[in-house]
Formats: sequence, structure tokens, C-alpha cells
Amino acid sequence: MAGRIPKQFIDELLTRSDIVDVIDSYVPLKKAGKDYKACCPFHEEKTPSFTVSVDKQFYHCFGCGAHGSAIGFLMDYEHMSFVEAVEDLAARAGLKVPKEAGVFTGPDKDSGTDLLEIMREAARFYRQQLREHPQAGRAVDYLKRRGITGEIAHEFGLGFAPDGWDNLLRALGKDDASREALARAGLVVKKDSGGYYDRFRDRVMFPIEDHRGRVVAFGGRVIDKGEPKYLNSPETPLFHKGRELYGLFHAREAIKRENRVLVVEGYMDVVALAQFGVDFAVATLGTATTRDHLERLFRHAPEVIFCFDGDRAGREAAWRALDNALPALREGWQASFLFLPEGEDPDTLVRKEGRDAFLARLKTAIPLPDYLFDNLMRQVDMNRLDGRARLVELARPLLSKMPQGILRQMMLDRLAELSRISVEKLPVPAAAAEPAGSFRAASSSRTRGPQEPASNVRRAIALLLQHPELMEKMSDENRLADLDLPGMPLFRALHQLLKNSAKLNTAAIIESFSDSEYKHHLSRLAVWDYPAQAENLEAEFHDILNRLSETSAKQRTERLLHKESAQGLDQAEKDELARLLSLKRDISRLSPSRH
Ligand code: GTP
Ligand code: MN
Repeated sequence: MAGRIPKQFIDELLTRSDIVDVIDSYVPLKKAGKDYKACCPFHEEKTPSFTVSVDKQFYHCFGCGAHGSAIGFLMDYEHMSFVEAVEDLAARAGLKVPKEAGVFTGPDKDSGTDLLEIMREAARFYRQQLREHPQAGRAVDYLKRRGITGEIAHEFGLGFAPDGWDNLLRALGKDDASREALARAGLVVKKDSGGYYDRFRDRVMFPIEDHRGRVVAFGGRVIDKGEPKYLNSPETPLFHKGRELYGLFHAREAIKRENRVLVVEGYMDVVALAQFGVDFAVATLGTATTRDHLERLFRHAPEVIFCFDGDRAGREAAWRALDNALPALREGWQASFLFLPEGEDPDTLVRKEGRDAFLARLKTAIPLPDYLFDNLMRQVDMNRLDGRARLVELARPLLSKMPQGILRQMMLDRLAELSRISVEKLPVPAAAAEPAGSFRAASSSRTRGPQEPASNVRRAIALLLQHPELMEKMSDENRLADLDLPGMPLFRALHQLLKNSAKLNTAAIIESFSDSEYKHHLSRLAVWDYPAQAENLEAEFHDILNRLSETSAKQRTERLLHKESAQGLDQAEKDELARLLSLKRDISRLSPSRH
């Protein structure tokens, strides 16, 4: 999508807009030193940890980790598409969005905000049908049979999509434009032959709300028997099922009160639990729990309890959830697993045994660390030395996914204890292992614990990203051309970008990488509290570049020495090696402490 609007325009837009004005028009900001602050609009909090930086044109929440540029804010907070966010910003700045010639730009009102309006009307329509449609009795009877009270049905906005191909279409699809919009909202399906038909027919409708309580999708349950049992909205500009959670908006107050959130599998489970007063439950939408889900849940409460069926499918789903939870487990965040008796789900169980018994079960949930080790130990023979070695091998990839911190260290200690190896000998690096070229998350835990040690490459990237004007001070970047260290590909990409387009600010840089794997790392580094005084930045930057260049020279020396003994060197290489070796002597004379 980004390709439709010239990149230079986005750069210019982000340089000319003021993120403070943009965010302030939705969330009133207060000045705090150089920056601005507010209570975070993306999670519930009482003391402001949402910070907007004027210099970087970037926002970041130290509580929940939400972050982005003005464009990102409009996309996340207002559900705008990328193009809409750019258009909105351009209008504020009095600029016209140029479109790249020859590229079809589609209908102009491809608008997420329009779609929200349609979803709201559709939800109203389905609710009304549940009260008024001649066939609504079927749905009402069904809900009654399942023990759903009218009150709770009303609370969750349940509705009814009557049987037939064009009920919604006739009600909301007055003209071509609105039919097209219904199709984009996933409510009707466009036929190859050109016409449309209702997606949801003869189903009980569960509206799915986003974090601000706006309907972004529906889940429709077949009445009694039929296939598929549940039909969900497709992915649309408004709805990404790997991100939304059913019932989260409804439960947010209760989650805050309880300081924990329960994750179940079904819509009906959420509704039934709420009816019985277990009102802090949410459901994934027929998908595995994703890392996105978890990041979102942990913004609301520090404790997440997963509830799964006790059968094999439930255990597999639990393991997938564990796998996805590991990278999200920052300090102070806990996950645990509750397995229900076979053949039961939360809906049936809470009806059978009531609220208190169900709540008592929650206390028996297995903490994630225990679940992880129990499960792995079951796969090996702990009495055998090679069995314990295997335990280490099984645990290694899992623990490597965890962010740095106390919890990870404690789990490593536990692994050492179980496998009877000293923790120093564990083949899990003390620092989180990530693929070359990437970085660990910067310190963004709630407590902002001690600063992590940072590599020089990481420092160099952070400095350049946070203070792009340092680019003007860079000379002779060829010194680092062959340097082979994690993160160097990103450093080179960043350097190249700034060389081509001077005067980008931090937000514009990150936006330029929006389609790249680097975006995530850059966003973290952008808000890293760089441990250096403003007046020393330039000296610091030079110092880092010098050290990197020393490393580069060392690597080159080693490569040449290796080649010399393996196959010999030509004259140019011999000269180079001699030069490098004498340089090395000079350096060690100059700074003996460093070698
Ligand atoms: P009830 O039978 O109404 O009690 O449903 P449930 O919520 O107990 O459903 P179940 O445990 O069978 O499934 C859990 C969740 O998986 C549902 O809430 C849906 O989100 C999803 N799901 C189940 N069946 C289907 C299906 O046929 N298609 C899709 N897309 N999702 C489904
Ligand atoms: Mn069920």
C-alpha cells in the first residue's frame, strides 16, 4: 500500500507534522520536561507512562510498550489504514497527497472510519432482528436453551442474522458504494457474476469489539446443528483476528479490578462466565493465542490465565500458547495454565458447579515455568545422564525466546538444577539469542530495570536513529564496510538511508523501514534511554565508530592471517596485512587499557 504514495512525501509529511498536535487532539497531553505525557490510551493506567517526544516525533508507553509515529498512532488509535492516516496528516499540514503516476489508487473512500460506521449499523440491524424478525423465535429459543438470559444477551449485544441471501444487503446496501463498503467490511460477499449476498445467514451474531468498544467484526453461530459451527468475519481493514480478543472491551474494568485476565476458547464461554459473575474472561477468535494477543493482554493486567480443555487438542493449544507467551514475558508478568476435566468447557462447568467452584479452580492453574519443565521432563528419562542432556536441548530453544530478565535467569537456574549442570555451562547464552542482524528488546519493562549491556553496533544505531544529525559528522564510512557483527546489516541500511535523504527525523526513519524486518528493532532503539549526556553525543558517537573500526581491522587481519596459512597471499594482501599489523601496534600503544 505504501508504494502508492511517494516515499519522499511521507518523509516530508513526518518532518512537517507535529505528533504532539496530532495525539493531543485525541488524548490531552501535558508537558513534562522536553517531552509530553498522558495516561496511555492503549491500556488502563492511573499514572501517565505514555510519552510523546517532540524531537523524535515518536510516542512510546513505558507501561505497555505501545509505540509509533504520528502515522502509526492514527492507524492504531483511529483504525485508519496507512493511506488514510497519511491523508489525515496531510490535511492537517495543508499538503496534498501526490499519487505516483500510473498506479491505480482504488476508490477514494477506502476508509476504515466508514467501515466502522457500517459495522455499527450492522450490529444494530442484527440486534433489531433478534427482537423483531418473524423467525427470531428460533434464535431466542436456542439462547434460552443454552441458558443465556435476556440481560446478558443485551449486555453482549447479541443479535440474529435471519435466513436468506439479502436481509442485510437490503437494509444497508442502498447504492453501489454502500454495497461495495459492506463487502469491504466482510458483511456481504461479492459474487463473481457481480452481485452480492449476505455472509451471515440464520445465525446468532456475536459482535466483536476493538479496544475502544467499536464493533470491528462478527462471529456467527449456527443455530443448533450445522457447518461451520462458527463463522467469523474475514480479515478486513478493521479486523485482524490474530490481534483482537472477544470480550476484552467488555471485561476491561473487571480485569483491572482483578488484576488478572482469563483466556478461554469460545464466545459462549465468555458470555456464560460473565453471566455467572466471572467477568474477566476473553476469548481468542478460533486461533491460537498469538504474541500480539499476549502483548495486548499484558497491557491490561500482569497475570494471564489460559483455560484449555483437558483433551489432547487442549494440551496442544496450551503448548502453542506457551511458545507464543515466552517472548512476551517481561518482568512482573505471569502466565499460567488451567486444564478442565475432559468433555467440559468453561460454559458447561460454570453452569454445573457455579462461580465459586470455578474461581477455586483458577487457583490451581499451573504456572508457566512449571508447565514448561513438567512437560519437557515427561519427554525424557531424568535418571539418565543423556536424558538430562536432552532436557537441556529441549529447553534451550524455548528459554532463548525469553527476554532478558530475572525470570529468564531463574528459569536457567532451574534448568541447571534439574539437569545437574552448572548454570555457566548451559548452552543457553546469558544474553537472549536472536538471529544475527537483530537485537534484543531495549529496556522497556514496567520497572525499567538496570540498563542492559549494549553492543557498540547497537549503540551506534541508537545514536544515529535518535540523533540523525550525527550523520553529518560521519566520515570515511568505508572503514566498516567488511565489519561482520550482529546488527551491521541494519547499521548499513540506516546509514544508506540517511545518506540519500538527509534531515529525516526518527519517526520518518522508522516509517521508511515499515515494510522491513528491522522496524521492530528500530522502534525499540528509538525509545532506548541512551546513557549519555546530550553534549557528549558527538564524542560518544565518534568513539563508538572508532572502536567498531578497530574490530573491523582485527577481523580483516584474522581473515588475512588465515588465508596466508591456508593458501598464501598476493602482494596487495601482504601489504595490507603489514599495514594492519603495524596499525594494531599503534593502537595498543595508544590505548593500552583497552587490550
Ligand atoms: P458452543 O458449541 O457454542 O458452546 O461453542 P464453543 O464456544 O464451546 O466452541 P468450541 O469449543 O467448539 O470452539 C471454540 C471456539 O473455536 C469458538 O468460539 C470459535 O471461535 C472457534 N470455532 C469453533 N468451531 C468453529 C468453526 O467451525 N469455524 C470457525 N471459524 N471457528 C470455530
Ligand atoms: Mn461450548
